Amino acid sequence: MSGVGDERLTCPKTGNAGYRATADESRVRNRLGFELMPAFAEAIERRFGDGGPSGEGADDNEFIRRVLSRKTVRRYSEVIPSDSLLDLLVAAALSTSAKSDFQQASILRVTDATQRAAIGKLFPSMPWIGASPVFFVFLGDARRLQRIGELRGKPVRNGTLEGFFNASVDAALAMQAMILCAESAGLGVCPISVIRNEVDKVAAILGLPDLVFPVAGLCLGYPQGEGYVSLRLPRQVTTHRDRYDDSALASAIDGYDRRRDARHAIPRDQQRANAEFGEADFYGWSEDKARQAAKAEGAAFPPYLRSHGFSFD
Ligand SMILES: Cc1cc2nc3c(=O)[nH]c(=O)nc-3n(C[C@H](O)[C@H](O)[C@H](O)COP(=O)(O)O)c2cc1C
Repeated sequence: MSGVGDERLTCPKTGNAGYRATADESRVRNRLGFELMPAFAEAIERRFGDGGPSGEGADDNEFIRRVLSRKTVRRYSEVIPSDSLLDLLVAAALSTSAKSDFQQASILRVTDATQRAAIGKLFPSMPWIGASPVFFVFLGDARRLQRIGELRGKPVRNGTLEGFFNASVDAALAMQAMILCAESAGLGVCPISVIRNEVDKVAAILGLPDLVFPVAGLCLGYPQGEGYVSLRLPRQVTTHRDRYDDSALASAIDGYDRRRDARHAIPRDQQRANAEFGEADFYGWSEDKARQAAKAEGAAFPPYLRSHGFSFD
């Protein structure tokens, strides 16, 4: 099943909180007791291919194995997830930690077909936005705390950078909790930050007041098709010990580009902005991302925020 972990593996140790497996026992065994592979090694290799730590010796944990093998899903079956499951996912999302216990995330589910269609129509290159069985929007909500200040007669100015950042982080954490819980329930999801490119229109459709802004949408449904695990940057680049050090970045990125190209090459006809940058003989991840980032996105977002309650001071 796409979007979740490798279903071949069984997880004999989870649910036994007091138990500590030895390094040898943490290798996964099939029903007859034959060892299949170290619990995490294959998933970590598939995710990073960087020859780094493989989780050898750590207790087996089904949830971690699923996270290591997770993948964004953009095609969904017709089956609609039940309301009780969606309610459960919302409860899980809102159980995440929250900066200062201010609880500045809000979750909006778009069920109205006209609203769904109106949002979908704004992004024709991403048809999954209009077509997914379920669509949530995760909102940074700096308004609620300001209103609570009014209710308690203690003036709160929450349109600051601090207010914006805290609300954004709360919403992102809530979304990630929903993503992982949904995937563990067999669903597939796709976060949708492109909605911020048309934030005025999306906010009007959703009736968002000042100080409430979309962090991202979330398409959700049962996966159709397999998909693939996307190779991440080598941990040598994304992790540091004691002091930050990116002195080996260039060679590490080069190696990553080559490994990623060997697994999932970007077809020539998908090279970005060739008219401006020219056709590349070797077109790896870093060339693609540099071209993408060079074309700044999201120009509509800062003016939207500034005209809807945020001063960022
Ligand atoms: C905050 C955020 C916003 C995203 N926005 C979009 C989006 O607008 N459209 C889309 O198709 N995918 C979107 N994605 C999905 C990413 O493209 C995807 O996570 C990335 O390519 C890595 O793939 P993986 O999740 O399968 O490992 C978003 C992901 C995140 C975390």
